[in-house]
Amino acid sequence: MPAYHGIESMFGLPVGGTPLREVRLVIRGRRFTINLKMEGDNKFRSVKDRTAFFLLEDAEEKGLRQGGTVVESTSGNLGVALANLCGEKGYNFIAVIDPKTTQENVHRLEATGAVIELVTEPDHTGGYLLSRLDRVAELCRNNPAYFWTNQYGNPINPVAHFLTTAPEIYWQMRRRVDVIFMPVSTGGTLAGVSRFFRTASPSTIIVAVDAAGSAAFGGQPAPRKLTGIGSSRPAEFLDTKTFDELAVVGDAEAFAFCNALYKSTGLKVGGSSGATLAACAKFLASSEREFRRIVCICPDRGENYDSTIFNPRWLFENGFAVPEIAFPSRELSVELHAA
Ligand SMILES: Cc1ncc(COP(=O)(O)O)c(C=O)c1O
Repeated sequence: MPAYHGIESMFGLPVGGTPLREVRLVIRGRRFTINLKMEGDNKFRSVKDRTAFFLLEDAEEKGLRQGGTVVESTSGNLGVALANLCGEKGYNFIAVIDPKTTQENVHRLEATGAVIELVTEPDHTGGYLLSRLDRVAELCRNNPAYFWTNQYGNPINPVAHFLTTAPEIYWQMRRRVDVIFMPVSTGGTLAGVSRFFRTASPSTIIVAVDAAGSAAFGGQPAPRKLTGIGSSRPAEFLDTKTFDELAVVGDAEAFAFCNALYKSTGLKVGGSSGATLAACAKFLASSEREFRRIVCICPDRGENYDSTIFNPRWLFENGFAVPEIAFPSRELSVELHAA
């Protein structure tokens, strides 16, 4: 049993200190305990609280002062965290978002008083990331005093996870993790957590989880419904030493795991967490080893997706027949249970 399931934020920081929750995964009769790192329990409800806090510390060191303006491209969670932290610290915030940002996150951004810049034109990949970045560049060109925190390339992003997310997991798991699964978008979480474990626990297997249709690890981007995970261009923080295996998960599998977890345990997690659980189930199903200390990072809560992943009408209209959708329970004979 992991020792410290609910811990205070380490080092007295106002971010992190999120709990692990155990769930049971039964695959063709083999029983596994999975430790979910519940990043939705951060103050502003996602792992991006950590990134946002470190990005702002970095901006302050580079000269951001009270009354200054921060601008960032975000599909949602980082925007919500930055908007709230900027509000607390007396900075203005401009969030450059796109039509895939969930209604829930748009409402939460609006509630902070952040200025919202919605880009509506997809870029040449069919996604919006490059359009969002063009808009950020334009805003900064026209307003040279604006600070672009640049979650995609600022090395402080992985540092946030190296210094907080990873050591929390390491101590919560009593320093023993057999395998850890992490979804990837900018690659900041994966790069930071991996750097820590490669030194502190070199035997830990690191599995990167990407969305089908993402180009985070190269290749051609294609349309996808999952948000938060994946990218329409290669992630800047990653190289092949950062992970041992790459798992690519489709929208339907991810949404099915979100709904199955909610139905069987009452835990409601976001799409990237569902993708991570799907990757974990497939990995365990295809391995002979009896892994005991398994961690899945769950970046945010399902409440952000009530209008999509947990909305039968949205699922139906988008071609997903949930709750039965492609749920690999028949193929892998997967069952999820509360611990
Ligand atoms: C919903 C969601 N999934 C996955 C991730 C992992 O992202 P990154 O690779 O940018 O650290 C994030 C980032 O916070 C997220 O908000």
